[in-house]
Amino acid sequence: MVAARVVSGRALVVAIAVVLALLGSAAEAQQLSPNFYSRTCPSLATIVRAGMASAVQREPRMGASILRLFFHDCFVNGCDGSILLDDTPTFTGEKSAGPNANSARGFEVIDAIKAQVEASCKATVSCADILALATRDGVNLLGGPTWSVPLGRKDSRTASQSGANSNLPGPGSSLATLISMFGRQGLSARDMTALSGAHTIGRTQCQFFRNRIYNERNINASFAALRQQTCPLSGGDSNLAAFDVQTADAFDNAYYQNLVAQRGLLHSDQELFNGGSQDSLVRQYSSNAARFNADFVSAMVKMGNLLPPSGTPTEVRLNCRKVN
Ligand code: HEM
Ligand SMILES: *[C@@H]1O[C@H](CO)[C@@H](O)[C@H](O)[C@H]1NC(C)=O
Repeated sequence: MVAARVVSGRALVVAIAVVLALLGSAAEAQQLSPNFYSRTCPSLATIVRAGMASAVQREPRMGASILRLFFHDCFVNGCDGSILLDDTPTFTGEKSAGPNANSARGFEVIDAIKAQVEASCKATVSCADILALATRDGVNLLGGPTWSVPLGRKDSRTASQSGANSNLPGPGSSLATLISMFGRQGLSARDMTALSGAHTIGRTQCQFFRNRIYNERNINASFAALRQQTCPLSGGDSNLAAFDVQTADAFDNAYYQNLVAQRGLLHSDQELFNGGSQDSLVRQYSSNAARFNADFVSAMVKMGNLLPPSGTPTEVRLNCRKVN
């Protein structure tokens, strides 16, 4: 009797250990690591960097466009390459969702890098990871910080147009909406304010800032007049303007200096400095580029760690535009 109890006690200990080990490895499968491809694709970082260097040399804005793709990928069921899937007659994905249609760009750059990665490391590196690395390199090539990117994401076999329509903030969003939309992704108000510094690069269409430059009062008058020159009251919806009126293609902290001077271009931008909870942080970033860079990097890594819900079918896509 006593011996049997000891044995079953031991069996229990062994069973618990096995369960814990299984749980551990399941968690590990979800754990990203900067070294994920160091043996399976040692040339990965070099290939992505070269692809982004030539794209940004052709058109500096591309660094911004890729950064935005990554944000829009990660906010819809995690960073899973879902935004890269093309619509087909039988599949409606994220590219045609409101926040992306006639706006998201840079897909050809990801395709070109993916083709080069496939040539060196067949069926190994996910499109989601390529996008994460390309984003880091685009930011850095425009003068921003660099950081080590955790890797090991998989590509989803699905996309969510409704998720893209409901999870991504619009240019008219209030501060409360911005904080809550980022909060739903597990990102703090501080993360939100740091990530918004992405609008120190890139362009936006007249239709998204027209109301602000004609009707809002918390905008510098000469800045509003300048933007009105290329964004008429009617027509010109897709005319582009730089977010950052000072250094349009430099990844710096000028975005926050603009906000302090009431030169935010989108209503949602100026919401970060309009007498609310983020004012003091905006002031801090405006005078401390190192603080901004450090917070931006940590928020980018945090956003990059958003993964699809467990049970989502995934794969390493061979062509970023379609499932295998
Ligand atoms: C906080 C809420 C945000 C709102 C409301 C917002 C909204 C927008 C809008 C309306 C555009 C212009 C699109 C167009 O004209 O076609 C834009 C562009 C851009 N957004 Fe955001 N965005 C937000 C946050 C972010 C974040 C978190 C990032 C990245 C970390 C980001 C990166 C960019 C970049 C780089 C561009 C320029 C893209 C280009 O030139 O192609 N945005 N955003
Ligand atoms: C708006 O910006 C201009 C410089 O571009 C500056 O001279 C002016 O003082 C600003 N206006 C206000 C109200 O701050």
